[in-house]
Amino acid sequence: MQSESVQAIKNGIYSFQTITRYVPGWTFCYVFLTAISALISPVQIYVLENLVDSVVSAWNVQHIFWWGTLLIAVILLRSGFSFVKGLVMTMLTRDFRRGQIPVTLRKFRQIEYACFENSSKQDLLNKISENPQSEILSVFVQMLSIISAVISTAGVELLLFRASFLLGIVSIVTMLPMFLLEGKAANKETKLRWTMTTDIRKRYYLQQLFVDKDALQEIKLFDAKDLLIDRSEALTKKINTEMKDTLKQVIRLSSGSSMAAFIFTGAALFVLSFALLKGNITFGVFVSLVTALTSFYGTIRGTVGAVATFLRLSAKIKYYQDFLALPERMDPLHGDEKETADPATIQFDHVSFRYPGSEKDVLHDVSFTIFPEQRIAFVGQNGAGKTTIIKLLLGLYVPTRGKIYIGGMDSTELSDEKRQKLFSVIFQDYQNYELTLRENIAFGNIEKLRCDDALFKAMKDAGIEDLPTKYDQGFDQHLGRIFEDGVNLSGGQWQRAALARAYLADASFIIMDEPTAALDPIAESEMYTQFAAILKNRGAIMISHRLASAKMAEKIFVMENGRITEEGCHDELLKKGGAYAEMWEKQSSWYTERKMTV
Ligand SMILES: Nc1ncnc2c1ncn2[C@@H]1O[C@H](COP(=O)(O)OP(=O)(O)OP(=O)(O)O)[C@@H](O)[C@H]1O
Ligand SMILES: [Mg+2]
Repeated sequence: MQSESVQAIKNGIYSFQTITRYVPGWTFCYVFLTAISALISPVQIYVLENLVDSVVSAWNVQHIFWWGTLLIAVILLRSGFSFVKGLVMTMLTRDFRRGQIPVTLRKFRQIEYACFENSSKQDLLNKISENPQSEILSVFVQMLSIISAVISTAGVELLLFRASFLLGIVSIVTMLPMFLLEGKAANKETKLRWTMTTDIRKRYYLQQLFVDKDALQEIKLFDAKDLLIDRSEALTKKINTEMKDTLKQVIRLSSGSSMAAFIFTGAALFVLSFALLKGNITFGVFVSLVTALTSFYGTIRGTVGAVATFLRLSAKIKYYQDFLALPERMDPLHGDEKETADPATIQFDHVSFRYPGSEKDVLHDVSFTIFPEQRIAFVGQNGAGKTTIIKLLLGLYVPTRGKIYIGGMDSTELSDEKRQKLFSVIFQDYQNYELTLRENIAFGNIEKLRCDDALFKAMKDAGIEDLPTKYDQGFDQHLGRIFEDGVNLSGGQWQRAALARAYLADASFIIMDEPTAALDPIAESEMYTQFAAILKNRGAIMISHRLASAKMAEKIFVMENGRITEEGCHDELLKKGGAYAEMWEKQSSWYTERKMTV
């Protein structure tokens, strides 16, 4: 527990330093205003004491006027400060986000690709993507409000001790159980909120399934409706029970602390009245301290609440620090300066590869050369290593042994920009962006975002040139369901949109890692024919289980268990009578049967 508190304080300081780095001016203003407003409570008590004394004991009109004016000024200052503090916080938040969000995004861009495939790191990334800026800000605000409450309470304590030593002691002794009990209550409340958030999120997911069109179809088909409703109700029951139990405990603890507050107030009143009667304190001190005591308990409750929230939130700062410490991709030092001899010759030279954290190699001694403008296909069973080859080619991973040369240059020395010019890729799990049609296509080459002709051409090549004419908004039609006016595309249309995106890029090679799953074999075959026609002077690397793509290729590499076992063109491989010929034999009926029935 102690080390937890020390860590929380360290995290608090870290959030303070982070914010200061981005918005030093606003941070200074906020800290300054907080410090001044912390002193207002004790100052107000002191001014009230003097005002009452100048009325009761001396009836000094001049004093009454000055102390009265001062009291009004202090009260106005209190509300004025909280207003200005709010404004400063708004500016601070705005500027901090403006400065910090690009840093987080840049970090996301630089993180080693392997982190995205590692489940614990993926978890961390999910947590971070939720909004690290607000957590840093909340920790900062909570920390300052605790410091401010401590200063304010210390000021009031000073006045209590000044009035009567005994009163000071009584207030501290009764404050301890209040702190303890309120602390426990606040802890229970925040814990409940956390577990509830997880359960509520789970319940939200279940409810969302009933809204999701695709999911609903399956749910109805599999008759899983009742099961989902039961699970959602069970969660509601669990949430309610937990809430009831926690509330009971909180009420019990808070009653204990209210009792302590009651004893303290009673004892304080007794001590103060006794001191007043004995003439040890003035009437002004009596009135001002009685007034102060009424808000004393509330301040302590608030502070304890702030401490509990601070402890909880500051744990989240650790995620942010871990995120910043994630390994980054090494940018090649001189990548841009070196010119490759022939930008589009790819050579794998005895490449073996093992995924980080994995026990065994998934590629074994793979060697091949792909020449510019060549059409290549990789075929092989699930898990043979086809996608892995593409990931290595794109520089997402580095070979464990062997080298990859691109245009005669070690591919690790290739800059990102050069790689982008060389390869345009559509992965198996390509992305459907719920943005406009224009953006969906232009992500292939963002320079063409406003170039309707180029977008149209890419879409024509992909076979979806009719899409913009179908909608009033044309290229600016929103796709997907996030936007109110969004329209959903069919699986095949989404796929063709991904294709158009790849066509738009002016890359030397277009890589297609089986993006054709949503198409039937004939449509896939037609698409590849179309694809071959539009390639012109570009090379292509095609990956597919189905051999329609392979037939178009000048050279086919057959992969088995991380090795290239056969290579050659379609006819050569058929003649050879090996694994490829066997696969072709099995699959050829897909193409002939359907043609016969059409
Ligand atoms: N991130 C990863 N970490 C560890 N092992 C992985 C990872 N990704 C893939 N593998 C393993 O590497 C092997 C090759 O996978 P790869 O994705 O390259 O196969 P593939 O030929 O593309 O298969 P498919 O046709 O199913 O797409 C598989 O055994 C797979 O389990
Ligand atoms: Mg694959």
